[in-house]
Amino acid sequence: MNLAVLTSGGDCPGLNAVIRAIVRSALPDKIKVTGIIGGWEGIWKGEYVDLNMPAVAGIINRGGTILGTSRFSPFEQKNGKKILLERLSHKNFDAIIAIGGEGSMHIAQLAHEAGVNIIGVPKTIDNDINGTDYTFGFDTAVSIATEAIDRLHTTAESHHRIMVLEVMGRHAGWIALYSGIAGGADVVIIPEFETQLDNITGVIQKRYDRGKLFSIIVIAEGAEFIEKEIKDSRKYIKKKDDFGRTRLGGIGYLLAEEIEQRTGFESRATILGYVQRGGMPSAFDRILGTRFGVHAVKMFLNRQFGRMAAIRSNIITDISIKEAISKLKTVDKETYEVAKVFFG
Ligand code: F6P
Repeated sequence: MNLAVLTSGGDCPGLNAVIRAIVRSALPDKIKVTGIIGGWEGIWKGEYVDLNMPAVAGIINRGGTILGTSRFSPFEQKNGKKILLERLSHKNFDAIIAIGGEGSMHIAQLAHEAGVNIIGVPKTIDNDINGTDYTFGFDTAVSIATEAIDRLHTTAESHHRIMVLEVMGRHAGWIALYSGIAGGADVVIIPEFETQLDNITGVIQKRYDRGKLFSIIVIAEGAEFIEKEIKDSRKYIKKKDDFGRTRLGGIGYLLAEEIEQRTGFESRATILGYVQRGGMPSAFDRILGTRFGVHAVKMFLNRQFGRMAAIRSNIITDISIKEAISKLKTVDKETYEVAKVFFG
């Protein structure tokens, strides 16, 4: 049996743990595993690598992906579907395990509909894939963002400043909310629930009146509604990524400036950026990635194609990729209300 593996979309900590788990659980069943280099683009470029035990030795703790990744979509290419099927028929793969986020799962579904045997494994620091409680990468990103909040606290307190921390997450506020709660932020602004600037400055002022001369504000990069309220906001050009989605980032600078203007308190912005995605995965992400990898091979042996590994109530299961891409998993009201109790 011939199994191929690719990683697609933005990288995240834990990808190598999945690749390692796939290889190690496939080999005893005499399954040959081939890595496709650079996501779906590897099929266009004809770039493959044999994945054997030595190839995956010592990688469980490594960030990034040994296979490389891209946001290349075969279905955006001229005659993409035809070329994809032709190239794959030469390779004789029995199935492809596509490890990717929400954008990559859309491609996986198209490939499945085109007749390719696809198994999905969900990854993203954003934790926004429907049907799975967690994606690996999220736990590491939350830890990094929490540490950043801890560090900002001490410098904010020393200088009596308002510190705005912008974190990733696209249109889901999970990283902002979880790190905000864990780090004891004073306000957390997420895309799902609009917060007015008056409320934010109100919290800062109230803290000041109580003798707290600093505040920590965490904002998710996708909380674009803030822009509407900032009348003289600098226009920043929003580029698109290779999946055609708007590239986010930078709202934290606007917010810090606006807070300073409105309150007169010295404010600074920190954009955490790619630090959240790079480096060693946490133990949780290594374990989740490993569990997903082992399950993906079981799905292959059971010929459960067009499905994605998932975790629900700590049990590894699988759902149709169609269900996974049917909507984004965003922050629910109940979770948000818990965080709000601690604001200010
Ligand atoms: O989806 C993961 C993510 O890190 C988002 O949080 C962020 O908006 C985006 O990817 C950045 O992607 P890129 O690598 O294209 O800049």
